[in-house]
Amino acid sequence: MKFLLEYLQKIQNKNGFISESDILEASKQFQLSPAEIFETISSYEKFNLWTTSEKVIKICDSPICHSKGGENLIKLAEKLLNTKIGTYNKKFIIESCQCLGECDKGPVMTINDELFTNLNEEKLKQIFKDQKLI
Ligand code: FES
Repeated sequence: MKFLLEYLQKIQNKNGFISESDILEASKQFQLSPAEIFETISSYEKFNLWTTSEKVIKICDSPICHSKGGENLIKLAEKLLNTKIGTYNKKFIIESCQCLGECDKGPVMTINDELFTNLNEEKLKQIFKDQKLI
């Protein structure tokens, strides 16, 4: 399992996501079914599946972040970027995700692999400006 995760991480680092052909190649190399590879990828928040978006924005929607204002941030992000959760375009996709392991610094989000903590509405707007999303 460790080698499979390292293999997938290398692809993720190189391309920013894992494509269907990457899954088929991993399936051959590790002698696992594509479904098993897919299941592994889906189990880890850090892996993105074949999105073509440049920036993958993941906002934690687990209970602690949610109770600290995460729900409002998701709505604000949708409004600022004029999109809905899960809808992707070439520039970005917003996803809600489960706990990112930084609950004490919540609400949190990642943009690609970069972590942003202690978010509030003003901070979210500034990050989106800095990232040239708005
Ligand atoms: S609940 Fe959001 S990081 Fe844990």
